[in-house]
Parts: sequence; C-alpha cells; structure tokens
Amino acid sequence: VPACFTIDPIVGPEGGGPVDNPFAAEAREDPYPIYRRMREAATAHDTMFGVPAYLRYADCAAILRDGRWGRGSGSDRLRGAEDKGNRRSFVRQDPPEHTRLRGLVAKAFSPQVIAAMRPRIEQLAEGLIDDMFATGGEVELLAQYAYRIPVTVICEMLGVPAEDQVTFSRWARFLARGQDPEEVLTPDEARRRNGAIRNFREYFRELIAKRRAESTTDLLGRLIEAREAGDSLSDADLLATCVLLLFAGHETTVSLISNGILALLRNPDQLARVRDNDLPEQSSFIDELVRYDAPVQFVSRTALQELEHDGRRFAKGEHVLLILAAANRDPEAFDDPERLDVARPNSRHLAFGLGIHFCLGAQLARLEGEIAIRTLLRRAPAMALTPEPLTYKPNIIMRGLQRLPVRLK
Ligand code: HEM
Repeated sequence: VPACFTIDPIVGPEGGGPVDNPFAAEAREDPYPIYRRMREAATAHDTMFGVPAYLRYADCAAILRDGRWGRGSGSDRLRGAEDKGNRRSFVRQDPPEHTRLRGLVAKAFSPQVIAAMRPRIEQLAEGLIDDMFATGGEVELLAQYAYRIPVTVICEMLGVPAEDQVTFSRWARFLARGQDPEEVLTPDEARRRNGAIRNFREYFRELIAKRRAESTTDLLGRLIEAREAGDSLSDADLLATCVLLLFAGHETTVSLISNGILALLRNPDQLARVRDNDLPEQSSFIDELVRYDAPVQFVSRTALQELEHDGRRFAKGEHVLLILAAANRDPEAFDDPERLDVARPNSRHLAFGLGIHFCLGAQLARLEGEIAIRTLLRRAPAMALTPEPLTYKPNIIMRGLQRLPVRLK
C-alpha cells in the first residue's frame, strides 16, 4: 500500500493507527466498512489530499450550516485548473453572489414546474421499458434505462434537441470523473474533463444566442426572462448555470436510480415493500436509498475566516472534506444505520447537502427516481441480477456503477 494511501486519525482523544483509504481503487465497490472504521477511530482524518475529512453527522451538519465556512475561491485547489471556467456557477459561490444567482434560477425551478413533469417522466420510463423488453430479457440497465431518464429530462428542460443527448451524456461522464481531486486523475482524464467543459460552453453559447433571438418557454427561456428587482442573468451567468444544471442533474440521478435498484435487488424483502407499496406514510423510500448509498459521496468547504471547529484551528482559506456518505450511516443520527429500511421514518440524511447549498434539484431527483424505480418494479417484478461481476466507475466523489446487467424476467 503506497504511503499516501494510509489515512491517519488527526483529531479526537481516541487516537488509533492508520485505517485503510476509502479513496483507493479497491474501495470503490464498498467504501462503507472503511468509513465506519474511520468514523469510529476519530473525529477527523488526514487524507491523501492534505485536507482533513470529517465523517460524523454532527460535524458535517454543523459545518454545512455554518456561514463561516463556504466555497471560497481557494477550493479550486481541489478542482481542475480549467474547471475554473465554471467558477461562476452558484454551487461554487458564496453569498451575496450565491443568493442572487440561486434566487434567479429557483424561480424557473419551482415545485409546480417539477410536479407538472410527472406525466412526461412516466411516459419516458414506460417507453424505455417497452424497448428493453423488445430486445429480450437480458439488459444493461445503466445505459438502457438509468442514464436515459435524467439525460432526457434535463435536456428537454433546457431545450436541448434529442439528437444531442448522447453526446451530452458522454461529456457529463467526463465531467463527473473530473470533479475528483487532481491527484487521482490521469492526464487523459483531466484532458477529457477540460475538453468536455469547453464543449459544453461552446454548445450553450450558441443555444443562448438562439434563445435570446427567439424566446421560448423551456427552462433556458425562463432563465433568460428571469428578473428580480431589475437584476437578471448575464450571458456568463447563464452559461455557467446551464453547465451546472446539466451536469448536476445528470450523473447524480443516474446513480440514484442504479445504486437504488441494486440495493433493492440485494434486499428482496425491501424490494417487495416498494413494489407492493407497503410503506408507511411518513417514509420516503427514495430518501432511504440515497441515505444508504449516496450519489455524491463528499463535498468540500473552505474556511472564509480564521475559525475553530471541535478544538482544531483553521486559517482562512483552509479546506475540509465532509463525507456525507459516512455521516448518513452514523449511529448517532440513525438507528441501525447499516441496514436498508425503506420504511424508515423521514430521516434527515445529508445526501442532498444542507444549508444554503441544499440541492436545488432534490424534488426533481426524487420524482425521477420514484417513477423510474416504481415503474420498473411494476413492469418487471421478477427482475434479477445476472452472475456478471459488478464494476464501478473510478470516480470517488460521484461513486456509481459502470454497468448494471439484469434479467428482466
Ligand atoms: C447541489 C446532490 C440531483 C441541481 C447539490 C449538493 C448535493 C447534491 C450534495 C450540495 C453541494 C454542496 O453543498 O457543495 C444531488 C443528488 C442528486 C441531485 C444526490 C440526485 C440523486 C440534482 C438535480 C439537479 C440538481 C436533478 C437539477 C436539475 C443542483 C444544484 C445545486 C445542487 C443547482 C447547487 C445548489 C446551490 O449551490 O445552491 N446536489 N443532486 N441536483 N444540486 Fe443536486
């Protein structure tokens, strides 16, 4: 094991020796036992990125809620050089700029707009399932189903023509891997990520120009129209927002659907409860699936001023990693946290973040996930995994399956 792959506890009275590295390739399939050992060994751990990681619910929630922590321009150290091109996107900004941009976008992203999308998403899911049955019983669910729903939905929202959607999902895949810290990317992966950002920006530059000339009622059209107190989105803001929405609404929801189906297939009693709609009212099986296996494993924050957290001092500009996927299995916050329990009463998991950056697309992701999973379980009640071994993408932040081969009947 290379030296950089051992992680030492750095805070907390418990001490303890090195634990395995949850970011190592061997941990992709199941990082959860490593997260558990880390969480139990100490409050914070030094990582191979030279940035401490917090894994307990209380720390992650406190830092996400604390306005002294933010995105800070310094967090670019954890990102790609060229990715700075999308620094204007509001997930990367702090108030007051974040408040302004998010406010303008949220207007075009209202609960009514999302709820009105139900029939279209249902139609999409049914159509894709028809196609899968038509090609025979054995299918690869990731490409044939899990990718297709979120990509189509976000592209239709933005007004991207159907013929460009395949290209888009390839770029989004490069971007997903490119979110990981530079240290773990190969030169090829970094190059593909930078190329994808350039391509996205080029593409949307043209689309925005078209929409400015001829107004439309899709999300992009509404973003152009969105105004508040004389304020509006500049072309640069629009560009950054389009890339953010396309990307944020993409790989994450793909993982929700595919990780979720996998977790249910591995827990047949839980699958039966979802399929038979045998769930208490105050539960949400979708929230339980993202708690259990979070599509975004961690986020980073930067100290916006000198501060102290849990006895440790941070200078302005210092970073931390908050391992949401580990916090979501903290026994201090959840009963029997390693167990998938689709009937769990509403839980305050962190899979969609918390505080001012709480996922703007959470309602859309829940709707897509619910329709995708329920429709599939209804149409293919006897669905089963094939013996083919499962492989994961190399991504550490946006952990997800590479393929999900199943038999539909
Ligand atoms: C922010 C997760 C789907 C749009 C976030 C954050 C997380 C997250 C953890 C917070 C990032 C941080 O605090 O640093 C997820 C998951 C999804 C999902 C797990 C699916 C299961 C979506 C969808 C959209 C979307 C479908 C839109 C189409 C956004 C945006 C932000 C965000 C715009 C930035 C919010 C801000 O900075 O104020 N998401 N997301 N997400 N998400 Fe999602």
